[in-house]
Amino acid sequence: MTSPEELSPIVPLLLRWFDGSQRILPWRDSPTPYRVWVSEIMLQQTRVSAAIPYFHRFLQALPTVEALACAPDDRLNKLWEGLGYYSRVRNMKKAAQVIVEQYGGVFPSTPEELRRLPGIGEYTAGSVASIAFGRQVPCVDGNVLRVFARLLDSPLDIASPAVKKQFTALAAALVPAGRPGDFNQSLMELGAIVCLPNGEPLCGQCPLQGLCRGYQAGTAASLPVKAPKKPRMIEERTVLLCRSPQGVLLTRRPASGILAGLWEYPCLSGQASPEEATLWLREQGLFPLSLKSAGRAKHIFTHREWHMTGYLAEVAGGPAPQGFIWATPEQLLERYAIPGAYKYYSALLKQPPLE
Ligand code: ADE
Repeated sequence: MTSPEELSPIVPLLLRWFDGSQRILPWRDSPTPYRVWVSEIMLQQTRVSAAIPYFHRFLQALPTVEALACAPDDRLNKLWEGLGYYSRVRNMKKAAQVIVEQYGGVFPSTPEELRRLPGIGEYTAGSVASIAFGRQVPCVDGNVLRVFARLLDSPLDIASPAVKKQFTALAAALVPAGRPGDFNQSLMELGAIVCLPNGEPLCGQCPLQGLCRGYQAGTAASLPVKAPKKPRMIEERTVLLCRSPQGVLLTRRPASGILAGLWEYPCLSGQASPEEATLWLREQGLFPLSLKSAGRAKHIFTHREWHMTGYLAEVAGGPAPQGFIWATPEQLLERYAIPGAYKYYSALLKQPPLE
């Protein structure tokens, strides 16, 4: 392992590079704790380009921690729709309530206090404390781990908690007192736009090239070494896009488990035939006027994959079956949050009914 002293020359190099090359990002021009927090939670599983429109919309709808603390869950889900990992926004609301009730609406500034808030782990505490409050603490995400693995020419598995701990300790010793937030962001930024994943580092553009052992050894592109992942569970499901003059049929997912409390189209388990789909509709008291294939789609979650078969059914109007509602196009737009897993089918429904 390398000592922080050996690596300390990276600090001024990174800061200088960050000053000249950082991306202009909406949360960077006014890094209040609330804005930094919202952006960092969004960025945990979302690319910057995808997160930006969500960030603007979220801040416009809920400009303060007080507004977030009392936002209805359905509204939050709608603002988060498509970002995935909806428990993140539920935890944000819980944390906002703690900040309002226990801290009078003023964000705590130490990483220890931040970590006690729901949904805030070591990374988020470090990012808010360093970027918004100038605390001299590290924040190490996947990008930073990759930068270190290459810089040190380390064959260790960065998914392992022990390795993460080691690299975090190294980062902690390097964070400069004067510009902790910028230093942390420079490492993340380098990983995001230069030290790219999947064998594609842009070493020619890297301010650390001269110090990078991976570059010198010719191993940078093949690092970090990744342990083989456990295969994901594959779930076959049939999605029924059921449309009547009253709208599209939806049901609410259970209050716990994957995509808890979100809305979805009726689903059958397995790969149902058109006859099975028609039978199900009839059993619900619906009268299919037509049933067409809506194609196959796949969605990959962290630990599972949905392989979906879709049908588009036009049905006669009437009361929604027990446990279901008819959602109008306006309600789909404004009110009901449908998981991004159904993106392909949701897009089909935005087209006018087929003749
Ligand atoms: N990824 C997550 N947070 C980031 C930040 N503040 N700057 C650059 N990349 C990031």
